[in-house]
Amino acid sequence: MPWTEKDFIFKDNHYPSNRLEITEEAPSNIALVKYWGKYGLQRPMNPSISFTLSQSKTITKAILTPLGKPANKVSFKFYLDNRHQPAFEPKIARFFDLIHRYTPFVFQYDWQIYSHNTFPHSSGIASSASGFAALAKLIMNLEKQINPYQNALYYLQKTSFLARLGSGSAARSISGPVMLWGEHPQIAGTSDLYATLPDFDLHPVFQNFKDSIVLVETGQKKVSSTAGHALMDQHPFKNIRIQQAFDNVIKMNQILKTGDISHFIDIVEAEALGLHAMMMTSRPNYILMQPGTLQIIHSLRQIRKEHNIPVCFTLDAGANVHVLYPEGEKNKLQKIFFDNLEHKIIFDYL
Ligand code: DP6
Repeated sequence: MPWTEKDFIFKDNHYPSNRLEITEEAPSNIALVKYWGKYGLQRPMNPSISFTLSQSKTITKAILTPLGKPANKVSFKFYLDNRHQPAFEPKIARFFDLIHRYTPFVFQYDWQIYSHNTFPHSSGIASSASGFAALAKLIMNLEKQINPYQNALYYLQKTSFLARLGSGSAARSISGPVMLWGEHPQIAGTSDLYATLPDFDLHPVFQNFKDSIVLVETGQKKVSSTAGHALMDQHPFKNIRIQQAFDNVIKMNQILKTGDISHFIDIVEAEALGLHAMMMTSRPNYILMQPGTLQIIHSLRQIRKEHNIPVCFTLDAGANVHVLYPEGEKNKLQKIFFDNLEHKIIFDYL
């Protein structure tokens, strides 16, 4: 039986009273079937499934100073690459408020949080998933010091549960190589509260997959994911989209098990275009793709056809293109595709 919210409420009330320094890291992830739309408190309208990008991590160190008595608000400062970043703090403050019930001990300390991404942060690549996942791991590291008596699965699921409260996709940045978030009636153990690991081994075809990102646009997103999710509430195609994602998760599970790469390509690209189609048909509508995005999509499709290379693209809520391909195709793709682009490319994201 999946865990419920109640199972994650922390009841102990003794805490280490010394100064602590804890470091944890968490990977990014790229959704193959997209999470788009949420309800209640950070619950997804549909299940989603992602590859864990183990090469692209957030590494976070926290210095915790005991306060002596719990505060009403967590006192903290957030630093990225050793520079204080007040712009990130409201989302982190909200996260601390939301996790209060489940990890009250965090309110016993002052937190100085130092984060670093292994991928370039100026690239416009979202780091909130790996960022909140690393923070959730840190908090669970502390919980384990206080209460080491739960089993490994409990810690994994509670970490994902906490990360989800920071950012939905962070729920899937806890483990890998694949994670599934969102309850699906046909997949045992799935939950809206946390992401789970599949109960099968990833087919070898997908074990050496690469993700290289073509940077069409860098900098701040024009419309935040959070605002985009909210537009799903009244979306005219909401129910069709939700049904489609439920179906695609079942298909993707099967594909990842059997190694059916041509269906993998079909679904991954349909999901990426479907996500952007939802943005382009919401009220108000908006377009995140840029001319360069389409140009890259067209040339990838042409290369796939002409050279018979199993390469495909996916997009998240932005203009940059994630290029997914088996590692063995890297040199060929480098010559006929990547080398001809004028855009900056981040290789080895996965
Ligand atoms: C398009 O997880 O960034 O990347 O829960 O509001 O923080 P919040 O949104 P976020 O949304 C990610 C959406 C997506 C698809 C996906 O990763 O599944």
